[in-house]
Amino acid sequence: MVLETSKLPKHVAIIMDGNGRWAKKQGLPRIYGHQKGVEVAKKIITKTWELGIPVLTLFAFSKENWERPKEEITALFELLKVYLDNELENLKEKEICFKVIGDKEDFPKDVQEKLSLVERITEKYNKLILCMALSYGGRAEILKATRQIAERVKKNEIDLIEINEELFRKFLYTKDLPDPDLLIRTSGEMRISNFLIFQSAYTEFYFTEVCWPEFTEEEYLKALLSYQQRIRKFGRVYEF
Ligand code: IPE
Ligand code: IPE
Ligand code: MG
Repeated sequence: MVLETSKLPKHVAIIMDGNGRWAKKQGLPRIYGHQKGVEVAKKIITKTWELGIPVLTLFAFSKENWERPKEEITALFELLKVYLDNELENLKEKEICFKVIGDKEDFPKDVQEKLSLVERITEKYNKLILCMALSYGGRAEILKATRQIAERVKKNEIDLIEINEELFRKFLYTKDLPDPDLLIRTSGEMRISNFLIFQSAYTEFYFTEVCWPEFTEEEYLKALLSYQQRIRKFGRVYEF
């Protein structure tokens, strides 16, 4: 089977899961799994860019991940900083726009500054929007939007009658992005773990047993092929 370039998703979202388990299987500390995971992410970003898929969102750190051991969290920050330092030139060269969704302010100052810098430098690019979900939680996102809308209503800036899906979306982190067409989760877990819960209402899901550090371009193509076999009905009747 070959990929139909005219039927590619506009937005792929990935829950990059299984780094820790993969490392443990090799008898290595969890952080090795995260290190390998960064390398895999780079390959998948490049493949997405080559295919011309316009948006890729990667779940890199959840709101709930703050409950992990401090050493693991610190090691993840270090990996993120190194990634940003090393990849900036590549993002510029490929004209990739880097964007964070989530609560950036939860991160240490130096991480925040690096993230903002890369966002600022790459905001003019549009060959691919690389969206990184960091300290992201879908429920937190919805609550934040609700609070902001309520404040505007209180100040008479928004009338209750104006609150519809279109307006609500403007208060989400993903305000400028289309909903994900395809959501991939690795490592055999079949749950959403609070990722893009509003935006994935009509997303096609693809689960694989493969852990993120062993996810390859071939596995990615398998997911895209599976997506192309789906009939998306959005609640309507589909005539064969
Ligand atoms: C995903 O891998 C990466 C992050 C959540 C940062 P995990 O660290 O969750 O790996 P497992 O699920 O424990 O194997
Ligand atoms: C989801 O994976 C978050 C990321 C991949 C960043 P988790 O490993 O944190 O999710 P659970 O705990 O298995 O639901
Ligand atoms: Mg996990």
